Amino acid sequence: MMHLRCSVSACATTLDLHDRALACPKCGDLLEVVVEPGSTDPADLKRIWLNRRLSYDPRDASGVWRFREFLPDVYGPDGIVTLNEGNVPLIRGQKTASWACLRDLRFKHLGFNPTGSFKDLGMTAGMTEAKFVGAKAVACASTGNTAAALAAYAARAGVIGRVYLPAGQASANKLAQALDYGAEIVQIDGSFDDALDALLNGNDPDLYFLNSINPFRIEGQKTAMFEMLEQSGWQVPDYLVVPGGNLGNSSAFGKAFIEMKQYGLIDRVPKIVIVQASGANPLFRMWDAQAEELKPVAHPETVATAIRIGNPRSWKKALQGVHFSGGFVLDVTDEEIGDAKEMIGRDGIGCEPASATTLAGLRKLSESGRIDTDASIVAILTGHVLKDTDFIIKRHKKRSMADAHEAAGVHVH
Ligand code: F0G
Repeated sequence: MMHLRCSVSACATTLDLHDRALACPKCGDLLEVVVEPGSTDPADLKRIWLNRRLSYDPRDASGVWRFREFLPDVYGPDGIVTLNEGNVPLIRGQKTASWACLRDLRFKHLGFNPTGSFKDLGMTAGMTEAKFVGAKAVACASTGNTAAALAAYAARAGVIGRVYLPAGQASANKLAQALDYGAEIVQIDGSFDDALDALLNGNDPDLYFLNSINPFRIEGQKTAMFEMLEQSGWQVPDYLVVPGGNLGNSSAFGKAFIEMKQYGLIDRVPKIVIVQASGANPLFRMWDAQAEELKPVAHPETVATAIRIGNPRSWKKALQGVHFSGGFVLDVTDEEIGDAKEMIGRDGIGCEPASATTLAGLRKLSESGRIDTDASIVAILTGHVLKDTDFIIKRHKKRSMADAHEAAGVHVH
C-alpha cells in the first residue's frame, strides 16, 4: 500500500497515506510519499504515457496525472482538481547558449503552466489530496507564486484559499493573481520565513497546509522530470540546473530521478545543480563550508523576490538528490541574475528573475571551466516573464537614464 514515510532514511517511520501530519511524529523531519508503480515494463509505461497525450480524459490531459503510476493515484477521474497543468515546452537556447559558452542548452519552461509557474504541478496534487480528506480551507505562506497557484486551484476545488505574504515583497502581478482567483490575503511584516512561521505557529486544525513541506506537492512537481525526459527521447542530460529557494522543487526533481532509476526508466541520472541568489544563499553557504547543518540567513535579500528565503525547510531532501546525482550548489549575484534574465528575453523565451539564476550559474560554471562546454544541459525556468513586470520596467528605466547621462557626458555609478 502507498504510504507516507519519514524522509530521513535512518528514521523510516511510516504513516497512513492520508495522515495530515506535516512532520514525522518521531523525529520531526519532513515526510515523503512512497510510491508503488507496479510491475509494468518501463518500455510499456513510456508508451502508455505518450499515448495519453491523445486522450481528453482529464487525468490524461494533465501533464501531471498522465504519469499517475508514480503518483498517489487513489482519486479517480472525478476526484482530481486540475487546470490541465504540465505539458510545457523544452526549448533550445540559442543566444543564451553562446552567451554561456555552451553547445547543448535547453530550457524546460515551467512558467508556461496555467498560473505561470511550476507551482501548479504541485498544487494539482496537493489540492486533490486536500479535497479527498475533506478540507474546507487551505493555506500557504508564499513569495507570490505558490499564492497564485493555491488561489486558482482552491477556486477550482470550491474551498477557501488563504495566503500569507511578506508585506510589500511579493510582486504586484502575483498579488493581483491571488486576488483575482478570490483568495484571502494575510500580509505579514517580515520575510517569507516569518510568514511561514506565522502560519505554522497558528496551528489551525481546520486549515489544510499547502506549502512544499506537504509531501503531495512534491509528488506533483516531480512529474516535470518525467515529462522532460519523455521530450528528450529518454536520453538523460548531463546536468539539470534549478533555482533554489525553499528547496521544494529541487527535492522533487531529486526524488523523480531516484525513482526513475530505481524502476528502470533510466540507467543514469543528471547531475543536479542548485543555484541560489547570493543574498539568500543558506544552502550554498552550507555546501561551501562542508557543514553538516544548514544555518538560516537572517535577513535574505535579492531582487529575485521569489527566492528571497533565508530558512529553506526542504534542505535535507534537496541535498539527497544533489548527493545521489553527484551534483553541487552555487550562488550568483543580483547583477548576474539581471544580465542572464535579459539574455533569456533576447532568446524570445523570457522568464521571471528567480528563473534566470540558472543561466547566470551556467555562465559562471563554463567560464571557470567547471563544466564542459560540450555537456548536455537542461535548465529549469520556474516562472513566466509577466510574473514581475516591475523588475523589467525598472531595469530598462535605469538603462535609459544611464544612456542619457552618457550622451550628456555625465558618468553614473
Ligand atoms: N522560482 C520561482 C519563480 C519561485 O516562485 C520559487 C519559489 C522558486 C524558484 C524556488 O523554488 O522554493 O521550491 O526552491 N517560490 C515559492 C513561492 C517560495 O512562495 O512562490 P523552491
